[in-house]
Parts: sequence; C-alpha cells; structure tokens
Amino acid sequence: MTGPDTAATGGEAAAPGNPTGGIAVVTGAAGGMGVHICRRLLADGHRVLVTDLDPAAAERTAAALDPSGERAVGAKLDVSRRGDFEAALGQVRELWGTPTILVNNAALTQAEPLMDLAVADFSKVLDINATSVFTGCQVFGQAMAEAGYGRIVNMASLAGQNGGTATGGHYAASKGAILTLTKVFARELAGRGVTVNAVSPGPHDLPIVHRTVPEDKLAAVVAGIPVGRLGEPAFIGDVVALLASAGAAFVTGACWDVNGGLYLR
Ligand SMILES: NC(=O)c1ccc[n+]([C@@H]2O[C@H](COP(=O)([O-])OP(=O)(O)OC[C@H]3O[C@@H](n4cnc5c(N)ncnc54)[C@H](O)[C@@H]3O)[C@@H](O)[C@H]2O)c1
Repeated sequence: MTGPDTAATGGEAAAPGNPTGGIAVVTGAAGGMGVHICRRLLADGHRVLVTDLDPAAAERTAAALDPSGERAVGAKLDVSRRGDFEAALGQVRELWGTPTILVNNAALTQAEPLMDLAVADFSKVLDINATSVFTGCQVFGQAMAEAGYGRIVNMASLAGQNGGTATGGHYAASKGAILTLTKVFARELAGRGVTVNAVSPGPHDLPIVHRTVPEDKLAAVVAGIPVGRLGEPAFIGDVVALLASAGAAFVTGACWDVNGGLYLR
C-alpha cells in the first residue's frame, strides 16, 4: 500500500486529501520528548496536531514549532478521556482530513516504593499511561482502518521490559501493558493498512529524568549505562518518524529499543 506521505519523501503520488504529507496527532506533546517527535514529523512534511492536557501549553509549543500556524496546531487532549480522543479526531478531520499518524506519547512518570504503592495511584498511572493507548488505538485505529492507511507509534519504556529501576511499579506495569497492546492492535489492524509499533527508550536527557532521579544519583545511573551517556531525545523523533513513514509498511507489532545497551535481547 502506498502511504499518503510519499510526496514528502519524493515517492509516488500522495493519497487524496493529503497532498503535502501525512496528518499526525501526538499526545503529551507540550514538552519533553513530544516536542522532539513533533519537530521531526514536521520536518518530514507532515502536519501535526500538538496535544496535551493544558491547551495553552500545547498551543505555545505548536506556535514555537510552526509560527505560521498552518502545519502545527495546538489542542487539548486529556488521554484519560475517550471523548477527548474523539474530539481530536473530529478537529483533525475538519482541519486537514483523516489522521494518518498517531503517536501515543503522553504518560505520567512517577517513582514510589512498591510496597507502599496505593491501589488508587496504581490505577491512575495505568489509566493515563496504558488505558489511554488502548483508547487511542481504538478510536484512531478505527478511523485509519476505514481509510485503509495508518501508522500508530506507542511510547513504551525500558521499565516495561526490565521491571524498572528509577521509576515505580505502576509506571513499569503500564509500560509493559503498552508493549502487549501494541501487539494486540498490530494483529487486528495489519490487514487494513495500519501498522502499530512501540518505541522503548531507556533514560534520555530530558527534564523528567532529572526530576525523577535526584541529581546526586544521576552520575551513578549514567555510569551504569553501557554506552556511558543518557539518550539524545532528538533521535527518538527520528525513530518515531521512521516508524511513521510509508516505507515502514513491513514493520508492525514491533518494539524498537533505544536504551544505550541497558537491556539486550
Ligand atoms: N524521558 C525518558 O527518558 C523516557 C524514557 C522512557 C520512556 N519515556 C516515555 O516517553 C514519553 C515522553 O516522555 P517525556 O520524557 O517527554 O515525559 P514528560 O513527563 O516530560 O511528558 C509527558 C507529557 O504527557 C503529558 N500528560 C500527562 N498526563 C496527561 C494526560 N492525562 N493527557 C494528556 N497529556 C498528559 C504531560 O503534560 C507532559 O507534557 C512517555 O510516554 C514516557 O513514558 C521517556
């Protein structure tokens, strides 16, 4: 299947409605990794709905990425609300057409001693991190499947593979669930032109890592990373963009690790 973003990469003719590239929605994109992902998708010629909990923050980020306001637009999308996913889908359709790319990036990153972890906190993190991916894949996956083309990329984490070190059990469990949801939706949508993949980063040089790991412990964390440094968030943008490209049609249900050698398999 020829993807709609081929025009941006010099490929075959674009699909109707997407003359200059794909149409992306990125969650939790007002700051951190999401900004790098949006920047890279824009550089590839896609249009991007930059979403987050706080619409003003999302709009600021969109305006910084694209001062013209034509190719990046900010919007509110609380990923714990199905209605917000549906509203974002409607908004994108009105703006540009049916979305071709969804990046489920939003998450709550928290550290908490496992044996003190309250069920309410466990459920909240599972809801925002994992149930949101279920909802996003269902709502956007359905729309993409009906259009016959789509790329969904879910942000997992090393914590979901190795049980976590600096983060809490709720965060690690939620990221493990995302890896399985990625496979479940990949199977469901593979025959309808929609791929679903996960990216699994280790610790990156981002504010959340500096907030979660006390500065006096960060040097020890970095020393424990085989490549001896934190990850570069712009590269996560590159990885997401590659999985979101039309050429990635043969990759689905996969998890691409970006962890500095912390977890080998
Ligand atoms: N930073 C890292 O080193 C690292 C490592 C592994 C995985 N990840 C994953 O990458 C993704 C991005 O990480 P980050 O470093 O940018 O984290 P971050 O905490 O800086 O950003 C998360 C974003 O999600 C938003 N968010 C929180 N709850 C939301 C909700 N209910 N609805 C919508 N948005 C909500 C926040 O406002 C924030 O903008 C996350 O899924 C995270 O688990 C990051």
